[in-house]
Order: sequence, then structure tokens, then C-alpha cells
Amino acid sequence: MAKTSTASVPGAQRMQDVLNLEASDSFIQTPQVKSIAQRALTYLHARYPIHFAGPPGVGKTTLAFHIATMLGTPIVLLHGDDEFGTSDLVGRDNGVRKERVIDNYIHSVTKVQEETRSVFVSNRLTVACEHGYTLIYDEFNRSPAAANNVLLSVLSEGILNLPKQRGQSGGYVGVHPNFRIIFTSNPEEYAGVHKAQDALMDRIITLHLDHYDRDTEIHIVAAKSSLDAGAAALIVDIVRALRSEHSSAARPTIRAAIAIGRIVSSAQAKVRLQDEVFRWACRDILSRDLARITRSGASVIPKRIDEVVVDVLSRHK
Ligand SMILES: Nc1ncnc2c1ncn2[C@@H]1O[C@H](COP(=O)(O)OP(=O)(O)OP(=O)(O)O)[C@@H](O)[C@H]1O
Ligand SMILES: [Mg+2]
Repeated sequence: MAKTSTASVPGAQRMQDVLNLEASDSFIQTPQVKSIAQRALTYLHARYPIHFAGPPGVGKTTLAFHIATMLGTPIVLLHGDDEFGTSDLVGRDNGVRKERVIDNYIHSVTKVQEETRSVFVSNRLTVACEHGYTLIYDEFNRSPAAANNVLLSVLSEGILNLPKQRGQSGGYVGVHPNFRIIFTSNPEEYAGVHKAQDALMDRIITLHLDHYDRDTEIHIVAAKSSLDAGAAALIVDIVRALRSEHSSAARPTIRAAIAIGRIVSSAQAKVRLQDEVFRWACRDILSRDLARITRSGASVIPKRIDEVVVDVLSRHK
């Protein structure tokens, strides 16, 4: 993840609304990562919103932050939420503010002027549109499709429609030319995910991500665990072998490989068959992702993990 600072920028009603990020040293850029980033930046520069779609753990959010950082404008982050309505994106009226001016310049005459104005509290989409920030809308399809309808006119006409009550700007905001959106999403068949409306998908460019290639995964695991590339490669090969046996080839993800690497590193253990910490970390972390196959009432998972570990480590001797 990129380094965060919260310098004061226009529109940051609450400091946590706007992030100023610097490129992170631990972001790995192999030829595969660079190529995806290059495609995404090309589309964003042409003012198209981009969308990283793919199963969990393939690096969508990390890439979204990296690319947003490369654009160089402040970043506003939204996480899709099943409870979201339009006002969670754009903002809402927050009651009324009464201003009372008592003018008794001539003390025999008192003039009281009272003005009532509605107070509109902008949410992150409005802040980003108004000021030309980059909006990362992470897992946007966790929000109901209706809540995201407000994005259609933002993307087509460059206009953000606000609730009618918003006094000063007449109910809409013109979208700043520097405004960009990066969406991420998980596949529709996953729990808690809504089908995005075709009209929205038609306005954005979707890049389908899958697990990175072996070389990239090794670099990421080595960087995140402080193991050397040789040890990281063994862990990655174990994870990739088990992934290829998974029904959807989606799990275990690189998170499992990073976790094993970090535990080995923190316990000062070794990626070796004789190392108990390494062997238990593999069984405990990888068993969650494997099919619950039982033989004579007992799970075959620890046995299969052991077989793959032995196979990979013996091959690399
Ligand atoms: N290019 C990269 N450099 C360094 N680490 C990376 C890179 N890409 C992914 N990672 C690491 O891989 C892990 C998974 O990445 P990330 O959280 O971005 O995946 P995701 O696709 O957003 O997953 P989810 O759908 O579960 O949110 C994280 O620990 C992240 O730090
Ligand atoms: Mg993510």
C-alpha cells in the first residue's frame, strides 16, 4: 500500500476524506505489472474510467492505489457497501442553519434579519467531482446498483446531480476535468455482490485481472516477507500447485503465500522439510482453501498439503 499523508487540500471537510499518497517502495513492478499499469494509465489519461475486475487476492486494490498515485492528484476512497444509497456517495442535507443579524446601528430602531439556509454535507464523490480528485471506488458492486446510478451522468455528461435542496449550486455540480475514477470489483457470483447495471459497465473500461505470473508472485512474496527469492519461490510454487487443483483455480491466493513467508521470517524458521514451523504454517494456512474431501471420515487436506510441499521441495533440491 502507498504511504499516506493527509495534507490540507480543498474540499477535505473531514481530513480522512482526502488522501495524499506517495508511491510505495514495496509495490512490485515486474513487466506484467507495468504492462497492466500502462494500459490503465493510457485509458485514464483519455478520461475513461477504469475497472479492475477479478477474484479476491489478485492485486486489484493495490494496483488501483498505485495507479491513482501515479496520476498525482489527491485521492478519495469509497468502499462499496450493501447499505449504500445515493446520499452516501454524494452527500445529504444536514438540517438547516438559521442566521440572525440584529442591526441596531441607530439604537432607537432595531432591525432583525433572519435567513434560513439548508446545510449540505458533501460526501466523497461530490468532493472528488468538484475538485478534480481521483476516486477509488473499491468493490463498487457491493453497493446496490441503484446507489451507483448517480455515476451515469457523471461519466456521460460530466454532471453530478445533487439532491434538489442543495441551495447554492442549483442541484448539480459540473465535474472537474481532472476527475478520474478507478473501480474494482469481485465476480458477480461471490456472496454479497450485486450485478452492476449494463449502462454503467458500458461507460467504463474493464481490465480482467487474474493471479500474477510466477515471477511477479515470487517478487511480491519476497518483498512482503523479507525472505530471499529462493525461499519465496518454493512457497509460491506450493501455493500455485494447490491453486491449480482448486475447482475455480482461484485459491489459495498470494495472501496465503505472503502469510507463510512472514511467519517463517518472523519465527526465523527455514523453508525446509525438516522445519516444523514451516510445515505447520503450510498446513494451517493452506487447508482453509482446499476442498473438504474426507476419506474414511478423516480429512485428506493435511495429507495433500504435505504431499505438495514434499514434491515441490524435493524438486528444488
Ligand atoms: N504489485 C504488488 N506489489 C506488492 N504487493 C502486492 C502487489 N499486488 C498485490 N500485492 C499484495 O497482494 C495481496 C493481495 O492484493 P490486493 O489486496 O490488492 O488484492 P485484491 O484483488 O484487492 O483482493 P480482494 O478482492 O480480496 O480485495 C496484498 O497483500 C498486496 O499487498
Ligand atoms: Mg481489494
